[in-house]
Amino acid sequence: MFVLGIETSCDDTGIAIYHTKRGLLSHSLYSQTAMHSEYGGVVPELASRDHIRRVLPLVKQTLKAAKLGLNDLNAIAYTQGPGLAGALLVGSSFAVALSFALKIPALGVHHLEGHLLSPLLSTTAPVFPFVALLVSGGHTQLMEVRGIGQYKLLGETVDDAAGEAFDKTAKLLGLGYPGGPALSKLADEFSKSGRANNFKLPRPMLHSNDLNFSFSGLKTAALSLANKHEITREVQTEIAFAFQEAVVEVLTKKSLAALTQTGFTQLVVAGGVGANRQLRENLSKYAEKMGITVFYPSLEFCTDNGAMIALAGAMRLQKSMGGIPSLTNSFTVRARWDLETQEIPPNE
Ligand code: KG4
Ligand code: ZN
Repeated sequence: MFVLGIETSCDDTGIAIYHTKRGLLSHSLYSQTAMHSEYGGVVPELASRDHIRRVLPLVKQTLKAAKLGLNDLNAIAYTQGPGLAGALLVGSSFAVALSFALKIPALGVHHLEGHLLSPLLSTTAPVFPFVALLVSGGHTQLMEVRGIGQYKLLGETVDDAAGEAFDKTAKLLGLGYPGGPALSKLADEFSKSGRANNFKLPRPMLHSNDLNFSFSGLKTAALSLANKHEITREVQTEIAFAFQEAVVEVLTKKSLAALTQTGFTQLVVAGGVGANRQLRENLSKYAEKMGITVFYPSLEFCTDNGAMIALAGAMRLQKSMGGIPSLTNSFTVRARWDLETQEIPPNE
């Protein structure tokens, strides 16, 4: 079965073709980062308009790369939520219209399900059950994963997501948008410099005796540190290092606690912050001591992409989860959507 995956939940247009036996055949991504960076963050209306421009050429390009035509497709998986409503509408309406025209099913996929299954795209993949640490710009969650569609939330952030905190801290250090990768680069520069670390930031909720997180106070602590000093390159790298160290320590300790709590021996790290080098090193170091194997998606599949949506859709269709969707020319998007309960929170 050839499944076309379409991701348009935020500022990346991601398209992929996944075959249920042969695996990922091709994928393409258009990142809108350069366009949004001018405004210091994602402008939803601009994001939607750009998805409209990109989606069709990218589908054509991805089909060509897989040496396939539209008529070879057997199903379409698209991100139905959560995300920016207007951006989701572009991918969803495109997917449903194409499915109607081709007379093949279209399946709405949860964006976070895509992220947490993304390590299954690697040759060394985890097997169920595992604990997933989802760390993106919008979410920070620890999830117990027993199988496709079997998710139990173990803990989550009570305020900012880890990626959001990276981006906001980077912004206050004058690193532009999106600042996560830039901040992490500076932090690495500091650790390589061998200089002593004079700045220490708090480890929020480290001893909260639950698996929840909080990152907004950390960003404020970084801000008050920055306000006390002249922002030279040295100070920038030092604050970046202290910030990253604090986030990494909390994420690592809570992930290990989730593994102890569940008794599982595999940890999957997914979402954009999963690209962070120090997080990867730290997690692997401590997990190894506990006999835990840590799985990461390849760097290109850490951040938003179409491959994870095609994969999640293919897995659901193979299991006939929710039944084979019937052909329809109507659809809805779910800007907010709970993965564990599959419920849409009130006020939507
Ligand atoms: O998963 P993702 O692409 O989009 C969402 O669904 O949110 O994650 C994007 C987030 C951004 O906040 C970005 O700053 C962060 O991931 N990020 C990083 C790194 N690369 C991306 N944060 C820390 N270190 C990185 N190397
Ligand atoms: Zn994402």
